[in-house]
Amino acid sequence: MSSKVIEELKNNLKIVNSQEKLENIKAKYLGKKGIITLAFKELGKLAHEKRKERGVFLQKEKKQAENLFLQKKEEITKKLKKEKTFVDITLPGKKFSLGHIHPLSQVFKQSQEIFEKMGFLVVEGPELEIEWYNFDALNFPKDHPAREMQDTLWVKEKGKLMRTHTSPVQVRYMEKNSPPFRIIVPGVTFRNEATDASHEVQFNQLECLMVDKEVSVVDFKAIIQNFFDQLFERKVKVRLRPGFFPFTEPSFEIDIQDKKGNWLECMGAGMVHPKVLENSGVDPQKWQGFAFGFGADRMAMIKFGINDIRLFYSSDLRFLNQF
Ligand code: FA5
Repeated sequence: MSSKVIEELKNNLKIVNSQEKLENIKAKYLGKKGIITLAFKELGKLAHEKRKERGVFLQKEKKQAENLFLQKKEEITKKLKKEKTFVDITLPGKKFSLGHIHPLSQVFKQSQEIFEKMGFLVVEGPELEIEWYNFDALNFPKDHPAREMQDTLWVKEKGKLMRTHTSPVQVRYMEKNSPPFRIIVPGVTFRNEATDASHEVQFNQLECLMVDKEVSVVDFKAIIQNFFDQLFERKVKVRLRPGFFPFTEPSFEIDIQDKKGNWLECMGAGMVHPKVLENSGVDPQKWQGFAFGFGADRMAMIKFGINDIRLFYSSDLRFLNQF
């Protein structure tokens, strides 16, 4: 027969469902100040004969309590293990959401494919440039206001800057290769500008350079027409306006017409200036070519109907999930 204490303990254990609760109850009975431990301490107060009898009784009670705790512990461990390994195969599977290719990357990828089909090679250049390639070799005179055209992010090291356009790669490529060549240069560019809906400090350009014996503005016009039609998947109206760049002569600003009929400026272009060919080690008497550079962000804005360039860099999923 169980004692009153053991009966009470059994009742208490019925509602225990965690190891933590079990330890708390164990302390209440068998801890330093536990009911059973204290009962042992009372033994000394009893007369000799009574003490022995009570001692045997308490030993038995302690053993019973210890067994009950052990049993309950095993029971809880088993239950937890079962819960962990149980797989409910009737539950619906977890759906993984698919990522999206960023609209800017889409424009770069598509542009590269279009130009590659026309025989252009994709070339890259450094984002941290030296003054020579970014300005001097491109015929920007030292004190010419044209140098102020692009507010530059200079770095601490003298003569180094974050490239303001992708045109320096023209010179880098021509220095190391012999014409004829057709290259495109997609990449990041930096300008020290106040940002607004159409200007960012960091943006993307795609440069194009074609040099051969008899390349003319006609070739240029045909190539960009073909490019625009494929990129925008419609017949695009293109307009050339006179422009100025120290590294091309003549120079043009290129506008395209959007679906609503508005003309949008989207790239700078021109015939490569003989001085730039010379600076790059290419004989301007033998070779000529055209170059252009467009803002990939602006191109993506026109293609997808986006009205603020800053959205590209906002990491806002409500925006990105639309592409
Ligand atoms: C240039 O950067 C010339 N290197 C382009 C060029 C290449 C001309 C080869 C001739 C021959 P421009 O500063 O206009 O030109 O910039 C070219 C395009 O970059 C602009 O039409 C615009 O689409 C984009 N762009 C310029 N500044 C920003 C800016 N802050 N944020 C976003 N896009 C910009």
